[in-house]
Amino acid sequence: MVNLEKILVTGGAGFIGSHLVDAYLSQGFQVVVVDNLSTGRVENVNPQARFYPVDITSFADLATVFKKEQPDYLNHHAAQINLRRSVEEPVFDGRINILGSLNLLELSRQFGIKKFIFASTGGAIYGEVDNLPVGEDTPALPLSPYGVAKRSVELYLNYYHQIWGLDYVALRYGNVYGPRQDPTGEAGVIAIFCGRILKNQPCLVFGQGNKTRDYVFVEDVAQANLLALQAACGIYNIGTGKETSVLDLIGLFRKASGKKEIPVQFEPEKKGEINRIALSSRLAREKLNWSPQTPLTEGLTKTYKWFAQKEKGK
Ligand SMILES: NC(=O)c1ccc[n+]([C@@H]2O[C@H](COP(=O)([O-])OP(=O)(O)OC[C@H]3O[C@@H](n4cnc5c(N)ncnc54)[C@H](O)[C@@H]3O)[C@@H](O)[C@H]2O)c1
Repeated sequence: MVNLEKILVTGGAGFIGSHLVDAYLSQGFQVVVVDNLSTGRVENVNPQARFYPVDITSFADLATVFKKEQPDYLNHHAAQINLRRSVEEPVFDGRINILGSLNLLELSRQFGIKKFIFASTGGAIYGEVDNLPVGEDTPALPLSPYGVAKRSVELYLNYYHQIWGLDYVALRYGNVYGPRQDPTGEAGVIAIFCGRILKNQPCLVFGQGNKTRDYVFVEDVAQANLLALQAACGIYNIGTGKETSVLDLIGLFRKASGKKEIPVQFEPEKKGEINRIALSSRLAREKLNWSPQTPLTEGLTKTYKWFAQKEKGK
């Protein structure tokens, strides 16, 4: 498939971003990646994409890439993703997640980007909500600097749209999981548990294990990012609508790994983390024609197998 349009993906060396790069390339787009490799890996970057090891906090370096590449679309996934770190170091988080995003928005305005797709969060933007699954019309009252930063960028997007006509789609993800997620990070419980189970280490559970999240498979998320190119300007939840607790996950891992006993170590709760969340994706179904295709049992098994294969190859 030949497509002369070009898309710049920030964070394209990371977990989700690298899957998007693959998906856009498979549709014939030219793809350019910007990533400072702080958590991403150069091995994740598809060799068919052009890679720039640039930090989004440098306006000048980004401007050089925009000038040289003249992209049609921007997909912004680069971020400081560690919610707990955002609580400890809110200024560090804001510098990357707010000011870095603002650099990209300003350049997108200057270079006439046709659509700005933004990786927002559904898990950390609503705060604690009574009625689940939560819809996009529920007020966003984030309980962490990470969530506040994501909401700030959504508000900037609205400003750039209203005042400068920049077209955008913000995707509020649930907890995304799948191959290539960092098992040594602090975010991404499924990847972390895969890593620990394969090394026969206990899974650490913060609190009692009854906190629920909405787990969505990375290939479904990549599909949402393809559909977003055609979608009407706005904000869309990308999740399954289902709540799964940490202890439920352990149960699913028993099946996926074939291990009868998975040791669990309970640790004190972390600040800034909500108790329950599940996202309604009714709007995405209606307006993007998107719905999740991968049940958690299937996605979790695929993910575990991928990590097991990787562990074998070491
Ligand atoms: N994983 C999830 O469950 C989830 C949920 C909601 C939203 N998101 C968002 O999706 C995006 C991708 O997350 P991910 O899970 O793939 O994490 P990731 O850490 O694998 O990807 C982030 C990428 O951004 C790069 N990066 C970080 N700071 C940078 C900087 N200053 N300049 C340039 N590049 C920088 C990293 O090197 C990495 O490759 C993030 O914006 C994250 O906030 C993720």
